Amino acid sequence: MDSKQFSLCRKWFEDYAAGFHCPDEEVERNIDLKLQHTYRVCENIKRIAGTIGIRCIDLALAEVIALFHDVGRFEQLRVYGTFNDRISADHSKIAIQAINSSGVLSCLPIRERNLIRRCIWYHNKYHLPDSDSADFLLYSRLIRDADKLDILGVVLEHFNKREEQPNQAMDFGMIDEPRLSPDVISDVMQERMVRMPGMRTFEDMRLMYLSWIFDINFPFTIASIKESGYLERLMDGLSDDKESLQAKDFLLKYFEKKGEVYI
Ligand SMILES: [Fe+2]
Repeated sequence: MDSKQFSLCRKWFEDYAAGFHCPDEEVERNIDLKLQHTYRVCENIKRIAGTIGIRCIDLALAEVIALFHDVGRFEQLRVYGTFNDRISADHSKIAIQAINSSGVLSCLPIRERNLIRRCIWYHNKYHLPDSDSADFLLYSRLIRDADKLDILGVVLEHFNKREEQPNQAMDFGMIDEPRLSPDVISDVMQERMVRMPGMRTFEDMRLMYLSWIFDINFPFTIASIKESGYLERLMDGLSDDKESLQAKDFLLKYFEKKGEVYI
């Protein structure tokens, strides 16, 4: 992707997002949250890509995938007032519809258009397809890591300040009870990412974010999570009953093992 094509994509994103500003304070805060998230994911994807030593990575293409990956969040927030796909619509589907109807990708070769659309579609799916083109898998893994790395910081901030500054869009309808649900514990103990339908409480939500370590692809992402102390900080909000302690212990051992493998 050349610099002119990149600039066209960036300009479209800025103009598109600017159309969603509104006087409601909470909505405006969430729009800004997604804008800042997007720009940090752009930085993350370049940093991760820069550490994996694969020369054929097109950094501009990676950055456009990051720039567009959550473009559906703006429409989702305006129409449904939530970031919960389960009670609204899949935000990657909204993103692809917005991108297609704008024609922004028409400046790019077909291979890149399709790659961008597929990486957006899969950025929030539970699994990537088992086998696919090397290009698609590489860029998809990059966006999934870059996205998760930033979201962990965003949710921690939300957990820390949700009493003074409530934000329903970030709560996903969870209830404030000090317990973990059986399906959530079961997913973790099988080294699987926690699935949303089994979640009921804020503790479940903490464990769901913690379980993302089962789906991290690159050493840089592991190192960054370790350095920021995200896991320990998420665990701080879990109760001290037997099952929580078991889950915490399991996650810490897994993370330690994964860090060692990558060194
Ligand atoms: Fe997303």
